[in-house]
Amino acid sequence: MTQDEQKRAAAEAAIKHVPIGCIIGVGTGSTANYFIDELAKIKHKINGAVASSDATAKRLKSHGIEVIDLNNVDDLPVYVDGADEITEHLHMIKGGGGALTREKIVAAVAKKFICITDETKLVNILGNFPLPIEVIPMARSYVAREITLLGGQPALRQNFITDNGNIILDVHNLQILNPVELETKLNQITGIVTNGLFARRAADILLLGTVEGVKTMS
Ligand code: A5P
Repeated sequence: MTQDEQKRAAAEAAIKHVPIGCIIGVGTGSTANYFIDELAKIKHKINGAVASSDATAKRLKSHGIEVIDLNNVDDLPVYVDGADEITEHLHMIKGGGGALTREKIVAAVAKKFICITDETKLVNILGNFPLPIEVIPMARSYVAREITLLGGQPALRQNFITDNGNIILDVHNLQILNPVELETKLNQITGIVTNGLFARRAADILLLGTVEGVKTMS
């Protein structure tokens, strides 16, 4: 299977975890897009979806799936999304597409986080993929200095503004041996809206597309 076929296979496998008659949380990115296409096939069996980005909302609507405001949702049993890196402990780096803040919010509300990726995303140590951090624009230099003190090398993502009107710093050169600790430290830096470490709220299930088929890790 090619990388794209692995993503599509993981997305197809996620459909089995979608409960009937519920609202579903939907992530952002190329793998999540495959999931949206699969979800469209069973749209009459769900009560709509919460989107983690404007792009995802647009794709859901184009398939005729109702997009529901998270504030009007009492029960979100499942959130399905991709990742940029994931470990066997199901800690992740996310935000390659810049949607990390809304992704983290929807993931926080959901009872179960189902991560869907191809096998290139599974790593032993997080940090080879630059860690995305969403920052309030006026705090850019201050946050960059604080991150440098933590040993990272921040780079401003060029020509990019998030759905929330903020900038992204992509942090290079991190070997993240303790993702929960680093996520907690970054959460305490004023001016950071969200960091792309999903360790305090890790995935519950990983559906990993591989050349041999989809493997389930939990
Ligand atoms: C979006 O902001 C990200 O968190 C995505 O979930 C992540 O980048 C995975 O994207 P792909 O499925 O396109 O690899």
